[in-house]
Amino acid sequence: MLEKVEEVQERLKSKLSNKRFIHTIGVRYTAAALAMRYKVSVEDASMAGVLHDCAKYFSDEDLIKKCAKHNLDCSDIELRNGFLLHSKLGAYYAKKKYGVQNEEIISAVRYHTTGKPGMSLLEAIIFTADYIEPNRKPLAHIDEVRRMAFVDIDEAVYNILDHTLDYLGESAKHDRSGREIDTHTIDAFVYYKKIHDEKFIL
Ligand SMILES: [Fe+2]
Ligand SMILES: [Fe+2]
Repeated sequence: MLEKVEEVQERLKSKLSNKRFIHTIGVRYTAAALAMRYKVSVEDASMAGVLHDCAKYFSDEDLIKKCAKHNLDCSDIELRNGFLLHSKLGAYYAKKKYGVQNEEIISAVRYHTTGKPGMSLLEAIIFTADYIEPNRKPLAHIDEVRRMAFVDIDEAVYNILDHTLDYLGESAKHDRSGREIDTHTIDAFVYYKKIHDEKFIL
């Protein structure tokens, strides 16, 4: 399987920008480290990490066109915010272009941008690794999220979602950069906030 990961990585090197490729390697090894911590297959995490942004080289417009071509349903929010579709198209490519059959890996690619309620460990690992990998621009709270990722993955996911949404919480419609929030992200926030509250608020 690791040979297959290397092969996919090599193919992506010529597709992705240098910056995106370096980020991809960062996600691969961060996901592998988290997989060791949470007893998930290191190979699966490496593959999902390498593939997570495999469709992130199209313009928003082209992402919409490609999804239409492959009959991938797009929500109104996705049509207004085409970048969200790199996850959906990426999951499709993981299967069709890169020959991945493991549905868990495909799903981890599918939900790496928005998250969703009740993520599997692999999904949560890729969602988190995408946010904390070493090449990410340092954000004010990143050190705490990086540490928490190796202590309590649910809490790390909650912290990421909490920082992604503005302080309006579940009624938020836009993230801190003013981008529209996908409903999966809001649902995920509600789900992980409940876990957080049960743990920390008596
Ligand atoms: Fe992405
Ligand atoms: Fe990414």
